[in-house]
Amino acid sequence: MPDPAPTLVTGAAGQVGQDLLRHLVGRGVPVVAADLRPRPDGDPTLDAIPWHRLDVTAPGAVADLVGCLRPQRIFHLAAILSARGEQDPQATYRVNQTGTYNVLEACRIHGVPQCVFTSTIAVFGPGLPEVVPDDVPLHPTTMYGVTKVAGELLGAYYAQRYGLDFRGVRFPGLISASLPGGGTSDYALFMYYDGVRLGHYTAFCRPDTRIPLMYMPDAVAGLVDLALAPRTRLRRHVYNIAAFSPRADEIARSVQRALPGVRIDFEPDPERQAILDSWPRALDDTAARTDWSFRPRFDLDAMTDDLVPKVRALVHGRSAEAPSPAAAP
Ligand SMILES: NC(=O)c1ccc[n+]([C@@H]2O[C@H](COP(=O)([O-])OP(=O)(O)OC[C@H]3O[C@@H](n4cnc5c(N)ncnc54)[C@H](O)[C@@H]3O)[C@@H](O)[C@H]2O)c1
Repeated sequence: MPDPAPTLVTGAAGQVGQDLLRHLVGRGVPVVAADLRPRPDGDPTLDAIPWHRLDVTAPGAVADLVGCLRPQRIFHLAAILSARGEQDPQATYRVNQTGTYNVLEACRIHGVPQCVFTSTIAVFGPGLPEVVPDDVPLHPTTMYGVTKVAGELLGAYYAQRYGLDFRGVRFPGLISASLPGGGTSDYALFMYYDGVRLGHYTAFCRPDTRIPLMYMPDAVAGLVDLALAPRTRLRRHVYNIAAFSPRADEIARSVQRALPGVRIDFEPDPERQAILDSWPRALDDTAARTDWSFRPRFDLDAMTDDLVPKVRALVHGRSAEAPSPAAAP
């Protein structure tokens, strides 16, 4: 019997990509990885996955790889996130907007049945209700948010015009025991990371900052559950998903419960605080829970208990001189 067509993951070397690859392998899905960056060292699961260097801004390269692999599904993750995106909005446009167009075009040209897209709470802008439903006016304030709105709309267009099965989630800020990719929700992970490494951390936000967060195992399981859900059950292309929405000082207390003696201070950075203030405080994900039974397993304290030993392992596997991670969605 011929091998089943693989699943292709773009942006595979990133914070979500690496965990998604391990999750897909764990579910027995044949997977192929692509990223601008090489395969990360030292993980036997990742070592066994075919790895392609791919720049999604190059349309020919994207079409060639997709034509050669003929995947049954593409998880399109490659992106530049919010904080880095504001340092170079032009590159962010090329990667997020043109890159997504190139991937959708490759799906159309080579008849890829499904494309799964990772959107973000950064699609929202100021003036939101306390709990934000799927359908509100989208007025993002960052290039990252603007390009993700465009990606959601482009995908819906390819679904309607060309019959592509386009699905996506709007991830909250994601937390895992890996160094994040330059987003604005990174203050939450730094409380754990620098708490273990240095015993203190100064957060770049106010203590009352509240945004939706999610632990990575729930995020990747949710993304794959959405990809595998019967299309007939889905009433939308892109879904809000939510887990918990703690204030920054509540995260600090949860960290201090697990790591007594850690000191966490708050010195808001005006630019990043303005982005955080423009995002939802909480999301309504009723449609995801109804249509494809999305159910996160971790609340804040359950995440802390699971994460702290993993951050300890991450920190102790590194040099004590290792720099603080770059300041996710
Ligand atoms: N991490 C979060 O908190 C979060 C929240 C909301 C949404 N998301 C979305 O999830 C996806 C993955 O995010 P992440 O946290 O893993 O980000 P990340 O920055 O860790 O990874 C992004 C990956 O994209 C790759 N990439 C960048 N430019 C590329 C190009 N031109 N061609 C090919 N690859 C390129 C990078 O090398 C990197 O490995 C993104 O689409 C992001 O918008 C993440």
